[in-house]
Amino acid sequence: MTATIKLDLDRRLGTVDRRILSGFAEHLGRCIYGGIFDEGSPLANEHGFRTDVIEAVKALRPPILRWPGGNFVSGYHWTDGIGPRDQRPRRLELAWHSEESNRFGTDDFLRFCEVVGAEPYLCVNMGSGSMDEAQAWVEYCNGDGCTEWAQRRRDNGHEGPYGVRYWGLGNEMYGSWQIGALSAEDYVKRAREFAKVMRWTDPGIELVGCGENGLSDWDRVVIEGLADTVAWHSIHIYTGSDDYWTNVLTPHQAERALRRTAALIDAVRYRQRIEHPIYVAYDEWNVWFREREAGLEERYTLADALAVATYLHAFVRHCRVVRMANLAQLVNVIAPIVTSSDSLFRQTIYHPLRLFADHLRPIALDVHVDCDTHDLVAVEVPGGWPHRVADLGPFPVLDVAATASEAGDGLTVSVINRSPSDVIDARIRFADVTEPRAATVERVLGPDPAATNSFEHPDRVDVHTEILDDFGDGTLLQLPAHSHTVVTIGEEGRP
Ligand code: AHR
Repeated sequence: MTATIKLDLDRRLGTVDRRILSGFAEHLGRCIYGGIFDEGSPLANEHGFRTDVIEAVKALRPPILRWPGGNFVSGYHWTDGIGPRDQRPRRLELAWHSEESNRFGTDDFLRFCEVVGAEPYLCVNMGSGSMDEAQAWVEYCNGDGCTEWAQRRRDNGHEGPYGVRYWGLGNEMYGSWQIGALSAEDYVKRAREFAKVMRWTDPGIELVGCGENGLSDWDRVVIEGLADTVAWHSIHIYTGSDDYWTNVLTPHQAERALRRTAALIDAVRYRQRIEHPIYVAYDEWNVWFREREAGLEERYTLADALAVATYLHAFVRHCRVVRMANLAQLVNVIAPIVTSSDSLFRQTIYHPLRLFADHLRPIALDVHVDCDTHDLVAVEVPGGWPHRVADLGPFPVLDVAATASEAGDGLTVSVINRSPSDVIDARIRFADVTEPRAATVERVLGPDPAATNSFEHPDRVDVHTEILDDFGDGTLLQLPAHSHTVVTIGEEGRP
């Protein structure tokens, strides 16, 4: 099969925000305990952090980490997790039906962020939590006065304010599974009061309104109700299916959601004469459909990695509205990294994430692709999510996203060949005549779409690198079946 990929450095879609590469860690299963934090492990440092996890996370360079939930946060009292560890209460945890030791808390998380070079994003408890608690949390983290909470932070070993910039106003407050779920109208009322005291405590913070999936009436009511006070509107969509094509194509639902959310925000900002921008924080996304109970230790296939790469492409294409996205989650729980007591392995989905971390550049280009298409036949697979994307097709078998450096001397082209069976030779065309240049070609490859990594076979799906001396107009780029290929030209592309 052949295809054509046309690149024009002048056709710019907008500026890509690196915060789309952010992460999320929840007190759930083995994400915190036994993942990030593993007291007593020979691999743990003096703070109890797993050093091998730190290295694996650092390579993904997440600009922001969201914490502590997720559903967990709606029953979480942050004051339980500060001060001397041995005096912290052990609580019944109702979101995931477990027990919370509170041995990892606010100061531990903020230290972890510092260690991996990420900015923290704290989500407040709007379920069982009070306005006072949310206000006090901002004061504990960011206060520089002589107040009780700022002093408690100093007593706990952090003299200066942490300066936590991002604060979420609750998690999935629309859902019956959420402790303290609310109607959209009641949520808006309550969130406005939380927002008020949090911003009076620190006017520098950026608040994230709790959206749904970008497509619901909840989203409309919340954007209308909070537009004057929030900088962000959050949405969550997970996808996944045992049906190969459904699995790799459903991430396009993210594009529908982003289009709809962008339109809502635009209309509300116009009608309410809101000057400040409001961006989408897509603060939970991933393939997730297999492990819906206890621990959520999903094992990812190569097909899932292609889906994850498609999400990343969607964020690049919609870079004007989505300025933050948080992969759910970081370690063990629906995660790219899996630990045991003495080692870890990288799941298939780790690889596209790492390639984006290394090679994403600031300008999104409007790529033209000419290739075969696939019509999705809607199939209902038990256990999958009810997203329907067939109407968005036919889908190009190749999904391509390209980003360039400001000056146009660096270029990254990311291509997903979603054909489960066919190699595709793609002819590269440049709008302007350019000298052929050396390019690095990195391919995420595996024996078949169902291939997974494991402790026994950590590299079954891995990145294979090739150097091309003369990549330019007319180059024929070989794209193996079920693969993700990233071509980089010019300066490293690291910020
Ligand atoms: O990431 C797992 C869960 O998915 C989160 O706790 C919740 O916010 C979402 O439903």
